[in-house]
Amino acid sequence: MNQFTSPGWAYWIGGVTIVSLIALFLFLRGTARQTVFRDKNGQVIATTGHVWDGDLQEFNNPLPRWWMGLFILTLLFAVGYLILYPGLGFWGGTLGFTSDKMYQQESAAYEKRIAPLYAAYMKTPVATLSKNPEAMATGQRMFLTYCAQCHGSDAGGSKAFPNLTSHNEKNWLYGDQPDTLVATITDGRDGMMPPMAAAVGGHDGVVAVANYVRSLSGMSHDAALAAKGKPLFAACGACHGADGTGNQALGAPNLASPTRQWLFGSSLETIEETIENGRSGHMPAQKNNLDPEKIHVLAAYIYGLGHGAKTALSQ
Ligand code: HEC
Ligand code: HEC
Repeated sequence: MNQFTSPGWAYWIGGVTIVSLIALFLFLRGTARQTVFRDKNGQVIATTGHVWDGDLQEFNNPLPRWWMGLFILTLLFAVGYLILYPGLGFWGGTLGFTSDKMYQQESAAYEKRIAPLYAAYMKTPVATLSKNPEAMATGQRMFLTYCAQCHGSDAGGSKAFPNLTSHNEKNWLYGDQPDTLVATITDGRDGMMPPMAAAVGGHDGVVAVANYVRSLSGMSHDAALAAKGKPLFAACGACHGADGTGNQALGAPNLASPTRQWLFGSSLETIEETIENGRSGHMPAQKNNLDPEKIHVLAAYIYGLGHGAKTALSQ
């Protein structure tokens, strides 16, 4: 029957249902017969002999035939239904109906109906599609279903989950070009920053290089420590670039942008924590969830966020 209950429940449910139907039938048959009532002298009388309040009597009439007929019909309906459909726990029904199959059929019918629409979207390049309001509305609905739990309903991101609305190409971890977006969504991404404390000579080196990192984007910092950190940043350049502007092939963020929303945080403590412990952000691949047409529309939606009208949060 299903994986949550033991098969005994199926027989229990089926048994109770069948016994109730039989009992109802017997009860009905019992009440259909007219019982004969007699008075004290043995004479047949028209009432049941019950008297209330001195003069209220109950007549001995059988249920009307049409009324009985209706009851019989409901019983026959129940039997027919239980033969055709899976109403008894252990019997699947001759029609082979399951709610799962019904769902599959309905969603297949829906997919078939919208397939031409998605086929047309698929032929339109991502950048062009991002100007189509209907495709954007569809993209937004999908984003709210599949992406918003991590990236936020406005795609503004939060700690460890990137903002997807930046108009500055260099602020993106991997990039906001159509092919990059499609690749990110299809295959997912794994950001990998190893712990770097040893490479910069322990805790003092971490503090110095963290001050240098803050200086790169013009944030307040200790100038003497930043000067000490500058040569240590050589250990970081392989990934973040010698000038700290990042490397999108590795998903190493641009540390020198004054407008980028920081992934983990820009406070001195958070930057130190990043350097000490490393970071490993994981964006799950969607290719097993979503077919290429849907990913195409989602990529267009994200592309539209970065390249559409500028909004307050889209630095
Ligand atoms: C379970 C959380 C989660 C879900 C769900 C998720 N993402 Fe992500 N996404 C992330 C994380 C974390 C990253 C950053 C990966 C890294 O640190 O390298 C990311 C990165 C990205 C990037 C790269 C951003 C850049 O700056 O280059 C894009 C684009 C993106 N996600 C789009 C999507 C879309 C579209 C969906 C919905 C289909 C989605 N994500 C669903 C967690 C998620
Ligand atoms: C092996 C490549 C690699 C090296 C070496 C490396 N990083 Fe990173 N760094 C990354 C990646 C990739 C990320 C993004 C991690 C993620 O997406 O989870 C990152 C993230 C960061 C962040 C977080 C930025 C934010 O937006 O919150 C800071 C700060 C940082 N690195 C500083 C450094 C410093 C300083 C060094 C040198 C001491 C360094 N990194 C060395 C690859 C590297």
